[in-house]
Amino acid sequence: MFTIRVQTPSGRYPVFLGRGLLKNTGLLLAGQLPAGPVLVVSDKNVAPLYARQCLQSLQAAGYKPYLKVLAGGEQVKTLETAAGLYTRALQAGLDRRAAIVALGGGVVGDLAGFVAATYLRGVPYVQVPTTLLAMVDSSVGGKVAVNHPLGKNLIGSFYQPTLVVSDVAALKTLPAREFNAGLAELVKYALIWDRKFFIDLENLQQKNIPAGNSLLHAAQPRLLKYIRRAIRIKGEIVSRDERENDLRRILNFGHTFAHALEAATDYAYYLHGEAVACGMLLAVRLAELLRVLERNAARRIRTLLRRLLKFPPPPPALKPQAVAKALFYDKKKEGAALVFILPQAAGRVLVCKAPPFNIVQQVIDEYLY
Ligand SMILES: NC(=O)c1ccc[n+]([C@@H]2O[C@H](COP(=O)([O-])OP(=O)(O)OC[C@H]3O[C@@H](n4cnc5c(N)ncnc54)[C@H](O)[C@@H]3O)[C@@H](O)[C@H]2O)c1
Repeated sequence: MFTIRVQTPSGRYPVFLGRGLLKNTGLLLAGQLPAGPVLVVSDKNVAPLYARQCLQSLQAAGYKPYLKVLAGGEQVKTLETAAGLYTRALQAGLDRRAAIVALGGGVVGDLAGFVAATYLRGVPYVQVPTTLLAMVDSSVGGKVAVNHPLGKNLIGSFYQPTLVVSDVAALKTLPAREFNAGLAELVKYALIWDRKFFIDLENLQQKNIPAGNSLLHAAQPRLLKYIRRAIRIKGEIVSRDERENDLRRILNFGHTFAHALEAATDYAYYLHGEAVACGMLLAVRLAELLRVLERNAARRIRTLLRRLLKFPPPPPALKPQAVAKALFYDKKKEGAALVFILPQAAGRVLVCKAPPFNIVQQVIDEYLY
């Protein structure tokens, strides 16, 4: 088991990462919190696979666990579902000594974290991520939120977990498409922060991965090492800038285009990680056209992305104007200026404000035609 420590101004917490950790959730929690009632929040896909192990281990460690299983999917990340969870917690008599455990992907993690941040003005919570995306991204850093009819993640807070328990054994049951989406976020860390990580991934695919095979199957033992590296990078970035005033913005590499693609397709075509994968390719192209990134480096990054990730084909009916329009609704905009995180080299990015829009438009056109 690896322990990665995250230290932000509002809290310090361990991320435990390993294989087969779920059955030790209770023990790991006992190192941080006294025994008491615990509300475990999960979804209908994850609960049948992993809730029993988690509940049993909590019970064995002296906690009194209650389970709430949600339908799952982005549509449950709402204030209405949160209200249902408050009710369940009140009915179970959860007081300030209680904790909430989020057992599932980023949807469950964001929602249960939001409930923990607001129930009785805040109770501790534990992230037990079961998707690759949640392990390398959403479980670390304390962004908790629900969606609003007018946009995703608009109601939320920064609220750090008490601990994170990442059991990579859970990834075995993750559908391949979801795994690929998480892999996009994992590769992102190499591109924004760690040239050596990038080179390792390059070498890995050259040495071990026949074209078309995924990192998971071809090199499973290495996956743990890469997840650890990704969590360390995320931990370091959020430790330096918990509330996304500056440095943390680089985690949005690929996300300006990704959010526009998702919004322009009503969130029904791409998984988030797939949109990020496409968004990273578009950001590389934009950086190349703006001469921020050398042509050779751009080619290398594109090659890595194309060989590690699967890209859905561009949506056939999507019009460039729809993507351009969606770009201007972006949360990351500063005034009227669009903000892009662009690669300068493998492992290094910069923040680019208001690039000439005809070049942004060219990138979108090239992608769609
Ligand atoms: N808080 C943050 O910093 C942050 C960062 C990135 C994304 N997010 C949020 O994360 C959410 C997306 O998270 P996600 O990609 O994990 O999606 P998700 O939670 O919807 O999980 C994806 C699917 O996989 C299923 N699943 C989960 N684990 C499984 C397992 N081990 N075996 C089988 N099936 C499993 C789920 O039931 C679901 O159907 C979005 O709401 C996004 O806004 C938050």
